[in-house]
Amino acid sequence: MVARVSIILPLSLVVALILCFATVALSSTFTDDNPIRVVSDGPHDFQSSDVFTNIVDIHDDDDDDDDAPILPRSNIKAIYQFGDSISDTGNLIHENPTFKYARLPYGISFFQIPTGRPSNGLLMIDYFTKYLKMPFLDPYLKKDGNFSHGVNFAVAGAAALNTSILAMKDIVTSNVTNSSLLVQLDWFKSHLNSICSTASECKEKLGKSLIMMGEIGGNDYNSVLFGKTSMLKAYDLVPEVVQVIKYVIKEVIKLGAIRIVVPGFDKDATMKVCCGVGENEYNFDMNRQCGSDGVVACEHPNQRIFWDGIHLTQHAYRIMANWLIKYNFDPIFSMT
Ligand SMILES: *[C@@H]1O[C@H](CO)[C@@H](O)[C@H](O)[C@H]1NC(C)=O
Ligand SMILES: *[C@@H]1O[C@H](CO)[C@@H](O)[C@H](O)[C@H]1NC(C)=O
Ligand SMILES: *[C@@H]1O[C@H](CO)[C@@H](O)[C@H](O)[C@H]1NC(C)=O
Ligand SMILES: *[C@@H]1O[C@H](CO)[C@@H](O)[C@H](O)[C@H]1NC(C)=O
Repeated sequence: MVARVSIILPLSLVVALILCFATVALSSTFTDDNPIRVVSDGPHDFQSSDVFTNIVDIHDDDDDDDDAPILPRSNIKAIYQFGDSISDTGNLIHENPTFKYARLPYGISFFQIPTGRPSNGLLMIDYFTKYLKMPFLDPYLKKDGNFSHGVNFAVAGAAALNTSILAMKDIVTSNVTNSSLLVQLDWFKSHLNSICSTASECKEKLGKSLIMMGEIGGNDYNSVLFGKTSMLKAYDLVPEVVQVIKYVIKEVIKLGAIRIVVPGFDKDATMKVCCGVGENEYNFDMNRQCGSDGVVACEHPNQRIFWDGIHLTQHAYRIMANWLIKYNFDPIFSMT
């Protein structure tokens, strides 16, 4: 039986999902003076500074060739996942065994037992591993984890910025975990030390790996949004969050990674609404929304995710639909 999946997505996840399609194959010789170039997989060449300003839309070709998937099965032997609850396959419940994700009904639809996944069943990363014909990724904190095909470092509740940094900004975090992205990077480095002993050996291993860098950063914004502070304060965090994600990307590239999926976003390119006006960088004014006199659409709606500040563009909807059709409705495996 083919899995039938219906998904209702919160907007923040939609953003993450769309940008998940930005599979960026990066030159392994990246340095600050030697900009990242897309060496395959995307229609554009772009510079390192553009990592977060381009949506490399590999699923949007009309003459999409079904035999040319973004993830070449044969070249990928391992996946390393960084992130938060969108991707956690059990790290948080190893940190905190009494957390609710360790109890039913979490897991009820697929595993029938809780696994620590913050869902009733599988996560996107699980579909990626299935697609690559790999076992599910074990969480890094699992003592007897089998890491021969990769590791999941994602921790539900994790922020991109260190908890201490958020605290300094008077941003009250959820206190669920301190395992921020930089902590996950430390874990990654320790793991690497355990599987390869020279830089070139590590490079070779990472050259055959896929790095899933996120979604991460959502909790940084949530901390602000769930607090009493303004929406704009969340936007103000964007540059710092992007900075830390960029830093971690550079680090994994230095170690040898060449394939990285980056569900990051840039506020100018993607947060800006296409149809709107506003004195702010989001091009949005609550009192003069799309459809009001004098409010016009941007020239290139295909470069935007948000149409009017509430709804997404056709382009965004199309990418999501394509992805769901292509990968989720594949009879990867059955759910009963
Ligand atoms: C770990 O997983 C691999 C598949 O990636 C499998 O071949 C191997 O037998 C597993 N090792 C153990 C100890 O279970
Ligand atoms: C997190 O912990 C700090 C210090 O222990 C506390 O002041 C704060 O209220 C906690 N936040 C939440 C959301 O529980
Ligand atoms: C996070 O770190 C702070 C400061 O070291 C500590 O007080 C707190 O208990 C930690 N929180 C968790 C969930 O581990
Ligand atoms: C954030 O946490 C990591 C991991 O514990 C640590 O190595 C790093 O120095 C911290 N960074 C900052 C800016 O506090």
